[in-house]
Amino acid sequence: MVETACSNFKVVVIGGGLVGSLATVYFANKDIRQDKHASGRSINLALSTRGIEALKGAGVDDEIIPTLIPMKGRYIHALDGSFNTQNYGIFGQCINSVDRKLMNEKLLTVAEKHALVKLNFEVGVERCDFESGEITFVNNKKEKIIVSDADLIIGADGAFSKVRQQLLRQLTMNFSQEYIGHLYVELNMPPTKSGDYAMDSNHLHIWPRETFMMIALPNLDKSFTVTLFMPKEKFASIKTHQDLLTFFDVTFPDAVTLIGRDLLVEDYFKNPKGTLMTVKCDPYHYKNKAVIVGDAAHAMVPFYGQGMNCGFEDLIVLNELFSEHVPSNRAPTEEELGTILSKYTETRKKDAHAICDLAKQNYIEMRSGVINPKYLLRKKFEDFWHRRFPDLIVPLYTMVSFSRIPYSEALQRYEKQTTWFEWYLKARITFKVVLALAVAKAFMPLVKKLIQ
Ligand SMILES: Cc1cc2nc3c(=O)[nH]c(=O)nc-3n(C[C@H](O)[C@H](O)[C@H](O)COP(=O)(O)OP(=O)(O)OC[C@H]3O[C@@H](n4cnc5c(N)ncnc54)[C@H](O)[C@@H]3O)c2cc1C
Ligand SMILES: *[C@@H]1O[C@H](CO)[C@@H](O)[C@H](O)[C@H]1NC(C)=O
Repeated sequence: MVETACSNFKVVVIGGGLVGSLATVYFANKDIRQDKHASGRSINLALSTRGIEALKGAGVDDEIIPTLIPMKGRYIHALDGSFNTQNYGIFGQCINSVDRKLMNEKLLTVAEKHALVKLNFEVGVERCDFESGEITFVNNKKEKIIVSDADLIIGADGAFSKVRQQLLRQLTMNFSQEYIGHLYVELNMPPTKSGDYAMDSNHLHIWPRETFMMIALPNLDKSFTVTLFMPKEKFASIKTHQDLLTFFDVTFPDAVTLIGRDLLVEDYFKNPKGTLMTVKCDPYHYKNKAVIVGDAAHAMVPFYGQGMNCGFEDLIVLNELFSEHVPSNRAPTEEELGTILSKYTETRKKDAHAICDLAKQNYIEMRSGVINPKYLLRKKFEDFWHRRFPDLIVPLYTMVSFSRIPYSEALQRYEKQTTWFEWYLKARITFKVVLALAVAKAFMPLVKKLIQ
């Protein structure tokens, strides 16, 4: 199926989602033969520094950046209809809402333009024999298509990766998969009658409700994609249109009006309820033959907005290792490839595991932390010191979303900062107690006099 003469190194990228399509561009830029499968699903998502850096590294940022809608902070909707905003970064940094389908299409279009790339849609991988480099695909007519002598197989086939499944059979691999007991459903908030956004489009909207939450990200067509995350029992308890409307009237009164009752009912009951899970595994590679990237290697819950960003960053790391070990425009030797892939697992697994954990924690932060006084105090404390010593104390959100500090290092620094913050809290309390005692002591003679 891939019969481009030219290069002597054949890379097969499996999966044409966000990470697979960007991987294709990376390898096509190396002038290496390509083969890929593609398809996709559609929602908007938040693109931040790591993802943007990866797009720049592949030279495709010009295509994507004009389509982004910057979001400078959180817009928090309280139960009584009031709101407040919290900026993401103190220096005005933004995360960006991006249309998944549009970005995927743009990446595939760029990939397709490369002479050496051949895209193959509507085929799914069935088996991989990593040792011989033979991959068996099946098309939608159930016909088998065999691709042989792949020099490198890149598995980018998402959270339910078949390539990973094949690795699990052919490797000693640690693997864990954990569902959180919450589901999500997507709703649409249309533009207003006058054709404008129904809410401020430069924020990520959150309706934190302690044990669950709803969020909304803007789209280019002036609508918002609204996502409701809740325990599955809560979903199960909403059975009728009336149940749903009552629940929304009580819980998200401002949103009901903006979405519209009819559309709300229609979307809620029609749209699938998605599951959310974390996948961790180790290693990510098979000798000098195959490697998994993106969700195939590390699916995470979406609460840090890092799944795609981390998957894109995988490609920066892989590309850096290629540059480090292979002189430009030469195909790697088997030995070099073995070194690259094992170094890749070594550095990437601790970072991927760290962001998987952080993503899980951030659900609690988003649904209740953002309205918790201790959280807000810590934010104030960190912002204060970050402004004065930008490298010494860096808020976790800034490290994760606005830097390329390795996730595992960000997590360690955050833990250290937690200790400092705890000291600050203790100092504050001690100061208050000492002050109270001093005041009491000063007034004691007066009190005594009054009593006598
Ligand atoms: C509700 C939600 C919100 C999210 N929000 C964000 C966000 O704000 N920011 C962020 O960075 N991330 C976010 N994510 C995570 C993000 O969607 C994923 O991390 C990202 O899509 C991973 O890309 P991928 O290419 O690895 O996998 P996918 O996008 O899942 O693509 C996998 C591709 O492989 C194909 N495939 C599957 N099986 C086979 C097979 N057997 N053979 C061949 N091909 C196959 C699929 O058709 C698909 O095209 C969110 C996820 C969810 C669920
Ligand atoms: C798997 O987990 C075990 C136990 O934590 C650990 O000793 C081992 O190094 C891990 N990795 C692999 C590839 O076996």
